[in-house]
Amino acid sequence: MKGVIVTCLESLVKEQFGQHSWENVLEEAGLDKHTLFNMTSNVEDTSVLDIIHAACKVLDLTPDQAADAFGDYWVNAYAPKVYSMYYRRKAHSAKEMLLHMDKLHETVTSSVPDAHPPRFDYEWQDEHTLIMHYKSHRGLIDFLIGLIKGVGKYYNEDLRVAKKSETAVEIVFPEQSSSETSPETEQKTSEQAGADTSRKPEVDEAGSRVEEKQSILQKIFSFFK
Ligand code: HEM
Repeated sequence: MKGVIVTCLESLVKEQFGQHSWENVLEEAGLDKHTLFNMTSNVEDTSVLDIIHAACKVLDLTPDQAADAFGDYWVNAYAPKVYSMYYRRKAHSAKEMLLHMDKLHETVTSSVPDAHPPRFDYEWQDEHTLIMHYKSHRGLIDFLIGLIKGVGKYYNEDLRVAKKSETAVEIVFPEQSSSETSPETEQKTSEQAGADTSRKPEVDEAGSRVEEKQSILQKIFSFFK
């Protein structure tokens, strides 16, 4: 798996539990406490799973609690920094973001040799209920649930997530998807405002040129009156 998953976990543990806890996690996972991870290189899946299990043990978290903490931190703190490009230009609601996840995972791992990103199939049950089918050999469906909750939080949407099986989750979106209040929309709005502001001088300039021409014409007309 891409090392960025481990560097995210490292950042979360250090920030919320301290450097010493992270060193304990590494040792519990059978690694040297000074082991360094690289975001872009591959880390063996078994090592990543060992580190996750060790984190649960050292920090006294259930797998669900660890998955929720990771999902929240990834979507709301870490990925916005590491993948800021994506956050700047993409989805305007939780629904839009989730529907883009299959393509995104394929794209972000495309340069990694032998990458096996999770893939997703989407199946609508009704207007508000989406089944997301999870296709990965890693069996991290609990992390998928934590990440989806993180997406709900990011867009300030009260969505509900339930595990249907080890390969499928059901997501119920609120009646009114709050895309108006999404961070991207706010950003887009301010970008649009920025664009308007930057256009304003041109409009003003053009406008004052028109006024200038009108006043010259008025002077000419008044001369011939
Ligand atoms: C901008 C947001 C995101 C980026 C850039 C991103 C990127 C990545 C990357 C690079 C990996 C490692 C993949 C590999 O090494 O094969 C990964 C793993 C994973 N991602 Fe995301 N991700 C994002 C958001 C999400 C969200 C919102 C979900 C859930 C809907 C999700 C679900 C997963 C899961 C479950 C894994 C674990 C790997 C597996 O199960 O096979 N990701 N992601």
